[in-house]
Amino acid sequence: MSRRIPQAFIDELVSRADIVDVVGSRVSLRKAGRDYKGLCPFHDEKTPSFTVSPTKGFYHCFGCGANGTALGFLMRYDNLTFPEAAEALADMLGLPMPAGVSPDERPQDTGLVPLLHEADQIYRRALRESPAAIEYLKKRGIDGTTAGRYGLGYAPDAWDTVLRALGRDEGRVAKLIQAGLLIRNEQGRCYDRFRDRIMFPIRNTKGDVIGFGGRVLGGGEPKYLNSPESPVFHKGRELYGLYEARRRQGRPEQIVVVEGYLDVASLAQFGIEPAVATLGTATTADHVRRLTRLSDRVVFCFDGDRAGRAAAWRALETALPFAGGNVEIAFLLLPEGEDPDSLVRAEGAAAFRARLAAAAPLASFLLAELRSRVHDTDGVDARSRLVAMAKPLLDRLPAGVYRELLIEELASVAKIEAARFTQLLEGPRRASSAAGERPAPPKRGKSTPIGKMITLVLHHPGASRMGGDVPGFDEVDDPGAPLLRQLLEITRDNPNVKLANLLERFRGDPDERHVTRLAAADPPPVENDAEAAALLRDSLERIVQTHALRQQRLRAAEALRRPRSGAG
Ligand code: UTP
Ligand code: MN
Repeated sequence: MSRRIPQAFIDELVSRADIVDVVGSRVSLRKAGRDYKGLCPFHDEKTPSFTVSPTKGFYHCFGCGANGTALGFLMRYDNLTFPEAAEALADMLGLPMPAGVSPDERPQDTGLVPLLHEADQIYRRALRESPAAIEYLKKRGIDGTTAGRYGLGYAPDAWDTVLRALGRDEGRVAKLIQAGLLIRNEQGRCYDRFRDRIMFPIRNTKGDVIGFGGRVLGGGEPKYLNSPESPVFHKGRELYGLYEARRRQGRPEQIVVVEGYLDVASLAQFGIEPAVATLGTATTADHVRRLTRLSDRVVFCFDGDRAGRAAAWRALETALPFAGGNVEIAFLLLPEGEDPDSLVRAEGAAAFRARLAAAAPLASFLLAELRSRVHDTDGVDARSRLVAMAKPLLDRLPAGVYRELLIEELASVAKIEAARFTQLLEGPRRASSAAGERPAPPKRGKSTPIGKMITLVLHHPGASRMGGDVPGFDEVDDPGAPLLRQLLEITRDNPNVKLANLLERFRGDPDERHVTRLAAADPPPVENDAEAAALLRDSLERIVQTHALRQQRLRAAEALRRPRSGAG
């Protein structure tokens, strides 16, 4: 297994590297405005179309489409692997490489892990001493074995449990804040983040506690409080229950992905494991990648309510690039009002297992969902809408038999010949491409509103904290929306990322080519992050409105076409 270079180190490398230096040491460059130009080293040309942008930390050739960061340039020009290029760049910058790290390891020299471990011990002890908390778990049907296995604890109803026990000096207090255990208010006073809550420790695959989820005992808000992101805790990577699952022997036949901490624990108590949960965030590509390495069958199990359906659809969008390989990806929507915890208690393990076994494979789930969205597949509108909705989804599927088969199925639903369907998918552009593996040059000029916002966020990552949280955008299913959501999430959780850092995060990701294409485009003209944030908010609101209107209109049109009598 190749060792993994910590994200923080990659961030530092690409932030510090001067791309003009790096490229300029191998290609002769001339200054042209804010950028530098030269003859592209990756294809034959007489007039320079190869551009290096020091502000973006990014090179790009308008001729052949080659582009990337300083790291990417070294890989391609010097023909290096990723770790080799990182080492070469570290050398140039005079930075020592981090000591040998195993695939899942993050830099631990931050000293947060020992503190989190101590806090975990405090919470566990407090649970043993709190009759109310024990009573709550009993009422929820969690037995002692399960509580022990998942290391459940209790944060006492006080403002200073952790502060008093662990905050001996300012240095430790600062670390406790960084770990998310303490909060400092505007007056500079520190207090415990978690109070009067059942604590679910979140562990990385080595078993270190890296964060917590805390549930209120009664009906307070929020129901669950989660640790914020920290140098050791990244919600987009971690899965609750993964460590506990991996302690079991052998490769599991299937792995179940649920929404809640308690769902994981309950299913385990009923012998349905491994089960894991995302941490109050949407399923990321990182999650899916991990899951598909662990087992040959991944079942996403969501509540049958509106939120659950939306979450399932987003998980599907994220999982598409991983479909059609050796791993079966399936979806199970539970009856309305039930979650895995309530259902397994109500109907028992055998019945729940049967549901899992009958979960819809990704392709069937996708087809059924599209069908339900267009209702009447005979109408011309509905059929063309089906093609339009299928396109961005099929774009995310790797080419191959699986994609072909799905196209055939979709074509038959839309009552179009498969060949014609493929034609419609490809659209009028690009007759054939002799360029082989090379990415197509960026389309200049006409970008969609979502594409523009992706470009904006890439160039002004700071905008997403102030303008990226717009209600209803979660439901938008236009092409590019999942990618924009992912970008908004990353930039919100990592306030210091810059364009080149974002590009490196998408290295090897199915969306990499879209990200690099949009990074090469000119961002909308704004002066600073605040202006960018305002523009972002406006555009997202407009996108949400347009989406809502379109849905309304379609529903109205379909309602008109339907017979009034409830014969169906
Ligand atoms: P649910 O609201 O479905 O709760 O949230 P639940 O898992 O069924 O919990 P119980 O049964 O009421 O105890 C599902 C998951 O969403 C996240 C948590 O990870 C939770 O487990 N969540 C929910 C939050 O992060 N914050 C919240 O306020 C609510
Ligand atoms: Mn529940």
